[in-house]
This record gives sequence, structure tokens and C-alpha cells, in this order.
Amino acid sequence: MKLCMIGTGYVGLVSGVCFSDLGNEVICVDNNIGKINLLKKGIIPIYEPGLSELVIKNYKNKKLTFSTDLKKSVKESDIIFICVGTPTKKGGGSADLRQIYNVSKEISSSINKFKIIITKSTVPVTTGDEIEKILSKKNDKKKFSVVSNPEFLREGEAIRDFTYPDRVVVGTNDKKSGKILKSLYSPLISKGALYLQTSRRAAELIKYASNAFLATKITFINEIANLCEKTGINVEDISIGMGLDKRIGSRFLRAGPAYGGSCFPKDTKAIVSTGDKFKINLSVIKSVIKSNENRTKILLDRINLILNKKIRNKKITFLGVTFKANTDDMRDSSSLKMIPHLSKKGALIKYFDPTGYKKEFSKLKNVTNKTTIKEAVAGSDLVIIHTEWNDFKSINFKNLVQGKKFIIFDMRNIYSSTKIKEQGFKYYSVGK
Ligand code: UGA
Repeated sequence: MKLCMIGTGYVGLVSGVCFSDLGNEVICVDNNIGKINLLKKGIIPIYEPGLSELVIKNYKNKKLTFSTDLKKSVKESDIIFICVGTPTKKGGGSADLRQIYNVSKEISSSINKFKIIITKSTVPVTTGDEIEKILSKKNDKKKFSVVSNPEFLREGEAIRDFTYPDRVVVGTNDKKSGKILKSLYSPLISKGALYLQTSRRAAELIKYASNAFLATKITFINEIANLCEKTGINVEDISIGMGLDKRIGSRFLRAGPAYGGSCFPKDTKAIVSTGDKFKINLSVIKSVIKSNENRTKILLDRINLILNKKIRNKKITFLGVTFKANTDDMRDSSSLKMIPHLSKKGALIKYFDPTGYKKEFSKLKNVTNKTTIKEAVAGSDLVIIHTEWNDFKSINFKNLVQGKKFIIFDMRNIYSSTKIKEQGFKYYSVGK
């Protein structure tokens, strides 16, 4: 089977490379010539542990190729994965599907033999039906099958998530493509992945419902953390106590800053918008979105209180600015709201992130990037641990700054408060 991935963003590149590593021939297509040229040289446009090694290995052994020629690549392939972006529409909450439909039109004129067209991009329920309509205009329905096969990769863990998925979901309304897809995924199924075949619409909705549910779990524990702070309880005890109930499960119950990234904020809005389209009020998800937006304000209010309501001229350090560890992705990171707010209030901000300088802060007054943790924290009044990078998990602050003490606000609950206090630092965390 020859595979074609359209779109070499996160989803397309990671899935394409991993499929090639399973022994398939894969063409990764993108209309960005610069990106394709870099990939051919083994230069990866995103930060993802382990990805560059796999690209180089499979490009060298010719299992993986890169191209800007969509039509030719589609003609040469049996299975086409659509992996282009579905961002939030400007001025609304629904998903902007223009890239999906443009690609579908291009595929439509390249169907020269039976092809399976798969949406791997996160697309609202009924998008597969629309793609089918586009393809049917020029092609006999027997010549293609439109399938939904959502991805559940987490940034920073993407290769592991691809190789050892909890489940593979394939939504198809015909037996032939179901059989082919099951055989494509058989190397993962034989390693223990559960394979679930559903209707196409169900697969589309499983993806949104999963992301919305995970976002709900995080938001839920963040609100419980607020209550813990007022009642002298450690939220980590609550997470453990709840998580031991197998019906609840312990994952995604870590309190912290507002959830961010390229998926949860976008997908929660899009599912609400789909609900509205079908006149269904998804009120739980609506309140999750609201609560998450308010989360940054709550943490900023806490910073204000920690600094005795005197932010002007205070030296504040951010350790980590990405939305989570092991990624260089800044999309919807809560630091994008916190840093501008504090800078506007007159704080002098330094930040250090293992993935380096961020252009997002370049226009802000008094915000500077530092290339070491030591430089970033030197002379600070308040150090905020914003992202849970391993680099921040065993810092000996006492040795690092020799003498000068600052306040630490650990938004990811990395440290033990007693140990930090023993070193002579004032320490605040979340939900304790
Ligand atoms: C998420 C899902 O976890 C993936 O399954 C899905 O495939 C992906 O979206 C997608 O739709 O493409 P990702 O956005 O990479 O993956 O990141 P997560 O690890 O899920 O974290 C999202 C946010 O939740 C981060 O801001 C993280 O810090 C926060 N989070 C996560 C918490 O605050 N607490 C937790 O316990 C877990």
C-alpha cells in the first residue's frame, strides 16, 4: 500500500513518518516549498523528541519521500490522509474547513483508481459527508471511499502515542476500506492497540468528545484546586483519591494554569458550535471554556497578592513559556496572556524556555529572553514555574543564586513546599 499524507504539520508529519517506519511507502505532501526542501535535508520544522531521527532514517531508506506535487502524489497512492489545519474561524467558534475542502477538490481530479480518502485532521461531524459530495461530482462512487481516522497524538509524546495508542478509531460506512485500514494498523494492533470501527460520523465525534472531556477533567480539577486553597487541602491528595476510582482514572487531573495548545481551546469551541448548528446546547463544554478563560485571571490575581499588590518594577521570571513541556508550541499558552498583562502593569520580565526565544514577546516592553536558568532567575523578586519541563524539576535554587532570595510560584506543583522552604525561599503552589 502506498500512502500519501497531505499536510506536513504536526499530524501529517508524525503519522507519515511513523507509517513509513512500519514499512509502508509514504509520500508527505505540502504546498510550502520551503518546508519540503528543509524536510528533504532532514531539518524538521517542529520540535518533537525522536522525530528527526525517524525522518532521516526513513528518508534514507526511501520509505519516506517529500513532494509539493499533490496531484501526482495522489495518483501514485492508494490511501490518502488529509492532515491539513482546521483552525477556529475568525470571529466565531466553528472550525474553518477551507483547507479541507480545497484539498478535497484537488484530490477529486486525481482519482485514477480506487482510493481511500481519510480525514486525520480534526473535523466536525458531517465533514466526511461533504468531502464525499465534492468527490462524487467528478468521480464514480465505486472509485473512492471517505473514512474518518482521527489521531490522538499528544505533542511531545507523539511517536510513543502513535506506536502504542490506547485505541485506533476508524469510521467507515463500507466494509472494503474497513478491511484495508485494519490491515494497515495490524502492526499496532498486534502490539496491543484496540481497534474500534464505527460509522464515519461517530469517529468524527469521538475525537471532539474525547478532547472536550479531557479539557473538562482539567478544568474540573483546577476549580477544585481553588477550593483546596481556601480550605487548607492539598489538591494532589484529591487527584489521587479521585483517580483511584477506576471509573474516574488519575490522568489529566493535574491542576495548573489554563489548558492551552493547538487542540483543546480550538476543539472545545468547535464542538459547541457544532452543537449550536444542530440546536443542541452543550452547556457543560460551554462552561469549561468560560472557566478556562477565567483561570488565567485567577492566577494573575494570585500573583498580584503574592507581590502585595505592587507589580510595578517587580522583577518577574518565567521558567517555561510553552503551553506544556517537550514542545516549542506557543499556541494558546497561558503565558501569552500572563506576560503581556504583567508587562503592562510595569513588571520587568525575564523568561527562559528550553526551546529558546519566542517572537510572541518581541514587541513587549521590558520582556527579555535569557539563555540559562541562572541568568533568568538572577536578581528576581518572583520566579514563576509556568511549564513542567524536566529542566526545572531538580533545580537547587539556593546554590543557583547564592544569597539572594526570591519568591517561587510553582504553577505546576513540581516541588515539595517543605524542601523549598528549608532552602529559605517563600514558596507558593497551586491548590494547596
Ligand atoms: C491533546 C490530546 O491530549 C491528544 O490526545 C490529542 O490528539 C491532541 O490534543 C489533538 O487533538 O491533536 P496536546 O494538545 O498535545 O494533546 O496536549 P495535552 O498533553 O493533552 O495537554 C493539553 C493542555 O492540558 C496543556 O496545556 C497541559 O498543560 C494541560 N494539562 C494536561 C493540565 O493542565 N493538566 C493535566 O493533568 C493534563
